[in-house]
Amino acid sequence: MSRLVVVSNRVPSPRERTQPAGGLTVGLRDAVRGTESLWFGWSGQQRADIAKQKPDLDRVDSVTYATIDLTHEQYERFYENFANGLLWPLCHYRIGIIEFSREDLQAYREVNDMFADHLVPLLREDDTIWIHDYHLFPLGEALRKRGVKAKIGFFLHIPFPPWSVMRVLPCAAQLLHELTAYDLIGVQTEEDVRNLDGCFEICGLNKRAYHFPIGIDPAEFAEQAVQSVMAPEVKRLKDSLRGRKLIIGVDRLDYSKGIPERFHGYEVFLNRYPEHKGEVVLLQVTPVSRAGVGSYQELRRELDELAGHINAMHGNFDWSPIRYLTQSAPRHILAGFHRIADVALVTPLRDGMNLVAKEFIAAQDEHDPGALILSYLAGAAPEMPEALLVNPYDAEDIAEALHEALSMTPKERKRRWRVLHDDVTRNTASNWSETFLDMLRDTQPQT
Ligand code: F6P
Repeated sequence: MSRLVVVSNRVPSPRERTQPAGGLTVGLRDAVRGTESLWFGWSGQQRADIAKQKPDLDRVDSVTYATIDLTHEQYERFYENFANGLLWPLCHYRIGIIEFSREDLQAYREVNDMFADHLVPLLREDDTIWIHDYHLFPLGEALRKRGVKAKIGFFLHIPFPPWSVMRVLPCAAQLLHELTAYDLIGVQTEEDVRNLDGCFEICGLNKRAYHFPIGIDPAEFAEQAVQSVMAPEVKRLKDSLRGRKLIIGVDRLDYSKGIPERFHGYEVFLNRYPEHKGEVVLLQVTPVSRAGVGSYQELRRELDELAGHINAMHGNFDWSPIRYLTQSAPRHILAGFHRIADVALVTPLRDGMNLVAKEFIAAQDEHDPGALILSYLAGAAPEMPEALLVNPYDAEDIAEALHEALSMTPKERKRRWRVLHDDVTRNTASNWSETFLDMLRDTQPQT
């Protein structure tokens, strides 16, 4: 079989325990494992002079990691401004906070060209290339311009909005045109397919997208969860609860995750059902993300204030309703936290998929599983109808779901968990990548 070349802006470090948060690295790491592959992308580093840089190569098992640095200006204009200050909010339907600048667009194109320049010499003739996410929309076209004839697929991990939102972007039609360079385009949900196909149609482009919902490796995550229950961190958490129920939230610090809205919902729950006061703890693990982007800095301030407010208003000298952390935790420790949690609150305002929902289900004890509260605006929702589905903007809906989850009979929890567990097991990271790559390899070569 041909070698797989994965390209993404963020590449996990093969040797570090704590990995960058986010579904892309989690899903893809499971997908490339054991496959002869090259994973190319940004090193996560910035430096002043990149004129003479060559990709840094590191081989671990069957995967060669090849990474390049960005300049400080590229980091700011490409990564912070265009990718995460513009495309990210746009794709999450947040037109009100986007800022467009032609200089940022130019940097976005320059970085995509630079990726292509460094990648081409590493390619072999029979490679299959798989490019990921909104940082790299134009990369397929850039590779074609450099004579690459290999099959090239593209997968978008975040939502794709309808044309009525997309058209706000001055270069929208051009980006859509560039997407036609790919042999196969994958998105997470049927809604994303409708939106992207609608955009192609309006722009007069003969192209279509397909949906491939990403999954996890549930067996591995479950094993980590079982083993981590004995880890000191998980034991300390359990001891500190003193029999109280644990509600868990795990998200990158991102406004799309709906964390302030979740905290409001929790506060309504405490007011409406005071019998739970002192009996529950909400642990919100929120590693800081994209700290240089203004909207993320504002969110951080808002969350600090809200968590402080809820603890001050509702806490007692021996109980704090929220434990809010901005440091990251190793994945296996999170698996242990998930296992001992009674309820997971996964309430994004929009999300491409949300693998945390799937991880929570995988980590649970089948004899006494917890309950999942899930936003119906997460890409995972259509696959997980047995979760307690909520509107993440509606604090009262969240409050009611929390009460229902905490009052649910063991029989009902088991029934829901079994169905959810079947869903998570059926659609794994390896099924996801195999389905995509089989279809990519079967496409007709572009003429
Ligand atoms: O999963 C979506 C995504 O934007 C990935 O592309 C990205 O790697 C991840 O979230 C985390 O974001 P960042 O790389 O900006 O830290």
